[in-house]
Amino acid sequence: MQQVQGVVARKKGAPVEIVTINVPDPGPGEAVVKVRSCGVCHTDLHYREGGINDDFPFLLGHEAAGIVEAVGADVTSVAPGDFVVLNWRAVCGQCRACKRGDLHYCFATHNATQKMTLEDGTALSPALGIGALAEKTLVAAGQCTKVDVRARPAAVGLLGCGVMAGIGAALNTGGITRGRSIAVIGCGGVGVAAVAGAALAGASPIIAVDIDARKLAQATRLGATHTIDSSQADPVAEIKRICAETYEGADGADVVVEAVGRPETWRQAFYARDLAGTLVLVGVPTPDMKVPDLPLIDVFGRGGALKSSWYGDCLPSRDFPMLVDLYLQGRLDLDAFVTEEIALTDVEAAFDTMHHGNALRSVVIF
Ligand code: APR
Ligand code: ZN
Ligand code: ZN
Repeated sequence: MQQVQGVVARKKGAPVEIVTINVPDPGPGEAVVKVRSCGVCHTDLHYREGGINDDFPFLLGHEAAGIVEAVGADVTSVAPGDFVVLNWRAVCGQCRACKRGDLHYCFATHNATQKMTLEDGTALSPALGIGALAEKTLVAAGQCTKVDVRARPAAVGLLGCGVMAGIGAALNTGGITRGRSIAVIGCGGVGVAAVAGAALAGASPIIAVDIDARKLAQATRLGATHTIDSSQADPVAEIKRICAETYEGADGADVVVEAVGRPETWRQAFYARDLAGTLVLVGVPTPDMKVPDLPLIDVFGRGGALKSSWYGDCLPSRDFPMLVDLYLQGRLDLDAFVTEEIALTDVEAAFDTMHHGNALRSVVIF
């Protein structure tokens, strides 16, 4: 066991605290990781506000890269010294979803068995089973994906959550390819990542939609070919017009990614699709939201697919090393997502930054 500093949310709505935590030595199937960087995500704030569950105290942080310090005796997938990106999808290989080949739907993903604790022994609940806003963290070995050590930790650590969710929404769930059109509604970190994923695939046009002009400028930097300020213009009509300019007869985009998580924007995404197009919902709705009241004939008549994308339908072992290599080749600008490098003591301030301004991600550097 060792003691390190970590960012803990002790009770609902209260500001986070930097406290000493106990990190056990890794047991079977576990690894201790020395954290190099960890992004501050909306989900961390959501934990602090009690919006996920009531299992306080939480050890926050889950968008992280680090160096494996020690592993349990039986662990062979990673070794001390490996540079890894942490993930919250360490698949079990045994459940029904894994056995039928849908590993990204695994029902029984692994986390560490032992608990990290406060100094008084109170067990901590690590955010998304990771808890990486700490100098060191204990995770399941399967939560560590080894990637090229030459990559900048602050940038590639973001693959651990929101950036992967967005890229995967376009590539894995939407199946976007060269020769297809895409529109992305909502261009925060997740939506802009979907734009970057579409650019990687060679999609065209890539239409970014937001109500904030600063977000549209970021989307352009990451590969959007067109932007629509939906506080000024009807995004459905504009998407249809832009797609018809590129592909004669098109009545919308082949794929529309909804990255806000609201009924109004889901409805826009539904109608902005070309016939037989795919709607990908990656924005997370609140539990009280309902599917908009649509004529069933419109669902039938447009055909296509209405999908949701959970962590970008990613498989960390397949997707993280590939995306890190594309980053190192200069083809995926993960640096653009790091809008601020901060210290562990600045996490509470980063929650404020999230709500106003140009921020995509504030990243704690250790
Ligand atoms: N139309 C278009 N864009 C909108 C609208 C709207 N009506 N309302 C909000 N937006 C934009 C915001 O301006 C912002 O750029 O949606 C974006 C949301 O981005 P963030 O708040 O930064 O969230 P992000 O991290 O990208 O996550 C998006 O996915 O993972 C989930 O919980 C997360 O639901 C959230 C969503
Ligand atoms: Zn499984
Ligand atoms: Zn996250």
